[in-house]
Amino acid sequence: MQEKFYLTTAIDYVNGAPHIGHAYEKILSDVIIRHKRQIVDNAYMLTGTDEHGVKIQKTAAAKGITPKELCDENFSKFDQAWKELEISYDQIIRTTDEQHRKVVGQIFKKLLENGDIYKHSYTGLYCSGCEAFLNPKDLTEDGLCPDHLKKPEEVTEENYFFKLTKYKDKIAEYIKSHPDFIQPAIRVNEILNQLENIEDISVSRTKSSVQWGIGVPGDETQTIYVWIDALSNYITAIGYDVENPSDKFKTLWPADVHVIGKDIIKFHSIYWIAILMALDLPLPKSIFAHGWITIDQSKMSKSLGNVIAPHDVLVSFNLEKPDAFRYYMASAALTGKDGNYSDEDFKEKVNADLANNIGNLLNRSLNMLVKYFDGEIKPEFVSDKNDKIAVLASNTKCQIIECFNKFEVAEAANLIVSFADSVNKYVTENAPWTLAKDGKMLECGKVLYNVLEAMRHIAILLYPYCPNIAQDILIQLNEKVDFKYDNLIWVGLKPAKITEKEMIKPVFLRLDSEFATDKKKGK
Ligand code: ME8
Ligand code: MG
Repeated sequence: MQEKFYLTTAIDYVNGAPHIGHAYEKILSDVIIRHKRQIVDNAYMLTGTDEHGVKIQKTAAAKGITPKELCDENFSKFDQAWKELEISYDQIIRTTDEQHRKVVGQIFKKLLENGDIYKHSYTGLYCSGCEAFLNPKDLTEDGLCPDHLKKPEEVTEENYFFKLTKYKDKIAEYIKSHPDFIQPAIRVNEILNQLENIEDISVSRTKSSVQWGIGVPGDETQTIYVWIDALSNYITAIGYDVENPSDKFKTLWPADVHVIGKDIIKFHSIYWIAILMALDLPLPKSIFAHGWITIDQSKMSKSLGNVIAPHDVLVSFNLEKPDAFRYYMASAALTGKDGNYSDEDFKEKVNADLANNIGNLLNRSLNMLVKYFDGEIKPEFVSDKNDKIAVLASNTKCQIIECFNKFEVAEAANLIVSFADSVNKYVTENAPWTLAKDGKMLECGKVLYNVLEAMRHIAILLYPYCPNIAQDILIQLNEKVDFKYDNLIWVGLKPAKITEKEMIKPVFLRLDSEFATDKKKGK
């Protein structure tokens, strides 16, 4: 058994409120970590917020508040959103935390002392949206930043530079010899190409242009540029210290995966790796770059006015629990691909999978158990592990583990749904109602047992996506609520009276069902 699994997410800029793109990443990460906790004892998830930099300084100034006030205000919005979505992070770091600021200073100093950082005068095109100097050849025809469609500022400064070029060959070598490092693997060539043209990078700005940041140790005139600050969160959070790293750090590091968006893969697979090499620290096992979420097929942007907050989705569908939204987002795109959110599609998808497919299956089979057997599973109903459905359950479990090893979160969800499809088909083919009518009660009981035992498996497999629905399923099966994969053994469901008519209720109400609509109207 693997001992630990350390997952990090990108840390979000707090110059606004969280939208469903940010939520997408946190939900994917949470599904992965919840799955790992089903298997590994020490699975740890870090998330956080990125609070320094010129963008935050400017937004705060425009609002007439201090940068720290802006950070505090927006940090709460992010944290609140993650709580509402039941993101089960173990830790949330803010880059304004004193401990983080202190260790980033140490890191900078060490790199300087080792000669990995040097001072150099430089003229470049700076995009405050990216918090980075842009290469002129990457601009649009009109000279704008391709991501932010804003004209970058020409800036001449004497800055500190990090010797990225020194590590170029070592990084290429690492990427090539670790095929699982960058996921999905289709991104590998893109990174290797970017590595070809890499130059040393500026890692500080003058205080006159950026005040809101961590000062360069021993140089009053310079502020540490956001990426060294931001990336270091992955180690400072868990107790890295240049002199005396904590036991927690020694246990958790290196990260098993950095979950990030495709727009910041270069910073993680090149810059961060070089910094770790310079610090002589072990390298992360993998970087998983997810795609982007669009709204009704358009890029989310303030100017288009189509930015959706996760909270608004829950409110507009009158959802008390986040399960449906989590499920939809987690299956919105195949791994690494872009996905799209639309209200219509959300409704259709969760109604089809959670209400009609999985929910109905449980409901129908429990009702039959009540009707034919007074809610009791008799010992002779228990099937053996060679039954068709048992074999399918076991195969599904193995395939899902493999999916998660490749961060194929949506693919794993599809496997659960197709398992439920097969079980539905099994019910239709074996028609327990006909068996009962014909007086074949033993056969009927066996079919129902298989279906309910399959439901127990589905609950455990579904748990990372829909923790509340999964719990409700186990409760209705009269099972203890324990989602460890050790419980995924056929014939876990024990013979007993498990239910009565009054105890059976839908685990997920169709959106816009009569009942849900009534609830919406406050009836
Ligand atoms: O990049 N769809 O912060 P950020 C999917 N602070 N993912 C999206 C998205 C969308 N529409 N919009 C943003 C930063 N993201 C840095 C990270 S890490 C050491 C520092 C993702 O707030 C984006 O890809 O701009 C990134 O992974 C995360 O949200 C934070 O983006
Ligand atoms: Mg961004």
